[in-house]
Amino acid sequence: MATESPATRRVQVAEHPRLLKLKEMFNSKFGSIPKFYVRAPGRVNLIGEHIDYCGYSVLPMAVEQDLLIAVEPVETYTLQLANTNPLYPDFSTSATNIQIDKTKPLWHNYFLCGLKGIQEHFGLSNLTGMNCLVDGNIPPRSGLSSSSALVCCAGLVTLTVLGMNLTKVELAEICAKSERYIGTEGGGMDQSISFLAEEGTAKLIEFSPLRATNVNLPSGAVFVIANSCVEMNKAATSHFNIRVMECRLAAKLLAKYKSLQWDKVLQLEEVQAKLGISLEEMLLVTEDALHPEPYSPEEICRCLGITLEELRTQILSPNTHDVLIFKLYQRAKHVYSEAARVLQFKKICEEAPENTVQLLGELMNQSHMSCRDMYECSCPELDQLVNICRKFGAEGSRLTGAGWGGCTVSIVPADKLTSFLANVHKAYYQRSDGSLAPEKQSLFATKPGGGALVFLEA
Ligand code: GLA
Repeated sequence: MATESPATRRVQVAEHPRLLKLKEMFNSKFGSIPKFYVRAPGRVNLIGEHIDYCGYSVLPMAVEQDLLIAVEPVETYTLQLANTNPLYPDFSTSATNIQIDKTKPLWHNYFLCGLKGIQEHFGLSNLTGMNCLVDGNIPPRSGLSSSSALVCCAGLVTLTVLGMNLTKVELAEICAKSERYIGTEGGGMDQSISFLAEEGTAKLIEFSPLRATNVNLPSGAVFVIANSCVEMNKAATSHFNIRVMECRLAAKLLAKYKSLQWDKVLQLEEVQAKLGISLEEMLLVTEDALHPEPYSPEEICRCLGITLEELRTQILSPNTHDVLIFKLYQRAKHVYSEAARVLQFKKICEEAPENTVQLLGELMNQSHMSCRDMYECSCPELDQLVNICRKFGAEGSRLTGAGWGGCTVSIVPADKLTSFLANVHKAYYQRSDGSLAPEKQSLFATKPGGGALVFLEA
């Protein structure tokens, strides 16, 4: 598995309506026929939110919605990108001089991240050009990882154009790193599941070294995704990076408190590993070492014995330089408790007791509470949606993805699915004032989908 490359599948394009439509649109756009197609899926994280960048395992599955790109390599060293969605304007650049503008998270920049990651991995300064037509059906800015799917798809497109080989694990690591060119300090969950997903199973994704283990979900339940319709673009605000920095600072303060060498520590998991204690014990250490009142930059500097200048330039990311308060206690409590919930979730799936669905639901509810109260990455609409989902039959419901908007995921007993969908639709989406105009994809049941692939015309 660790040595496997993404599969290449031969298909009769004429028999696949979406591929066929893309081929025709490609032809009318570029006046030629695509050489190959690449798809990379979005994901839904079942549990384990905001802990991947702290070094902890997460438990996502791929959704069937994906990014599909039709590709034709060309001799001109020009990269031409077009999108079937008219909201995303055409873009073209010299393939030999890739610039990623961090100030505006425009759609094509995610493609450039994937391309640049592969280019740098192989130390190439010259890349052949290509024409690409992108078609996506993952709802954007909804916490289902449409942006990472684009980065991963572009990475695999570039690899295929170059005729090179990499394993899924290598691709996931390269794409996780290269997505940070956009300015967000994300972890590796989204890219890992996009490459490592397999149909029919969720995955426990562990980091350093990256690996994925199957987690079989209970057959008596269905996972339902509901979009709060509050859009969240994590690259357009500093919320996400502030959390990453709060976790980093908490890790340093905890390490210092325990007389460890704190300056090299970046992740909360490293502190646990160095102390060799359980997650439950880490929660106690957090209570002893940190206080619930927010920390000012000055207090953090006093605790670590560094200057404000050192804090800014050596620890914080550029878009968090001016943050005035950091909640370290709450963030660390969320991370250690959420990391424990992931392990419990996996164990329950493996042991499959009679009340599996209820137990998984409870963990998902606890996860949402922790995201809402300790990590403060929910929003009123997500809280409302979670409550509606629970009211109409979900055993558990939580925000999924980065939060501050986007989707919830709920575990629903299979026999309640029909009434659940109807009632949630009515309670959340059919507002009498017409203020919410949900799209087709706002509320749907989902099953674990497969990972990124290359399609060749048979
Ligand atoms: C985003 C990031 C992931 C992860 C989630 C929160 O999707 O890209 O790496 O941190 O948020 O769990």
